[in-house]
Amino acid sequence: MYSRIIGTGSYLPEKILTNHDLEQTVDTNDEWIRSRTGITQRHIAASDQSASDLAFNASQKALEMAKINADEIDLIIVATTTPDMLFPSTACILQEKLGISGCPAFDVQAVCSGFVYALATADMFIRAGKYRNALVVGSEIYSNIVDWSDRTTCVLFGDGAGAVVLSQSEQPGILSSHLHANGSYSKVLSVPGKICDGVIQGNPYINMEGNTVFKFAVKVLAEVAHEAIAENNLQPSDIDWLIPHQANIRIIRSTAKKLGLPMEKVVTTVEKHGNTSAASVPLALDIAVRDGRIKPDQYVLLEGVGGGFTWGAALLRW
Ligand code: ACO
Repeated sequence: MYSRIIGTGSYLPEKILTNHDLEQTVDTNDEWIRSRTGITQRHIAASDQSASDLAFNASQKALEMAKINADEIDLIIVATTTPDMLFPSTACILQEKLGISGCPAFDVQAVCSGFVYALATADMFIRAGKYRNALVVGSEIYSNIVDWSDRTTCVLFGDGAGAVVLSQSEQPGILSSHLHANGSYSKVLSVPGKICDGVIQGNPYINMEGNTVFKFAVKVLAEVAHEAIAENNLQPSDIDWLIPHQANIRIIRSTAKKLGLPMEKVVTTVEKHGNTSAASVPLALDIAVRDGRIKPDQYVLLEGVGGGFTWGAALLRW
């Protein structure tokens, strides 16, 4: 018994914030942002949109492609760092928006690795024969946790959502998944604020040692890719498409180089989306599926890395 992705969908909010727009509000410039990160623009959610709204739009498209109705979904997992509220979970709110009830619904919090964590979790439930159709979503509104006066972080992030329908299948599908974490890095990348007695205590914005994150991301994205490839008795050259977390084009290029993969085999969306955290991998996947790059039988390697630190990979036969 395997699980297989039978539908993908994504959603980006209408508003686009370009590097030139940011030049008007912080001491930065388009050339610096492009050369250090590869980012030219990012989408920003409207003030009345929440992570579950973005998730709902992406999910509808995934359900359409999968040609199944929402009431055939029997498991919902949403990966998000920017939930609608402290509770209930964004997954429960999404379930209500989809007009269904009864099936389990919960959030996964693994920051930028969230989608890979959620996909691996859904895969385990399906392989165990417990559920038939899982809706797995990454949805983020990072514009809510970015300090727009901090040029070292505000240029990096964007909002969006991506979703997949994962279904029981006799053919793979997901060949293997590999998850890791190292909590000793928790202070390197965090939003340390918390609500206490009705008041926010500590910094409620992204706090990051950019250089440490950069080096760690390149190291573990290469390591976990090798782990997934070796477990399936493949070579890096067998990978048709690498879809890494979209944080920075230089991180992506360095990872591809370490794996000996040409950039032609790497899906990148960071230029237009910025870093959408848990949404970045399913967003990039949906784009490459819909534009016809990803074809049946190809090997697709999804990878995430993020705060925690957390990191992981899922190797798929499409
Ligand atoms: N515009 C102009 N100048 C800037 C900006 C900006 N937006 N931000 C920083 N600078 C300045 C700095 O102040 C510094 O100036 P100084 O030399 O006078 O002190 C100079 O540019 C160089 O700064 P560095 O931090 O050394 O620049 P670096 O080349 O390391 O790039 C960056 C910084 C882009 C953040 C990089 O370290 C990076 O991408 N790290 C990974 C972080 C990341 O992706 N985080 C996302 C979350 S985690 C994840 O998704 C995996």
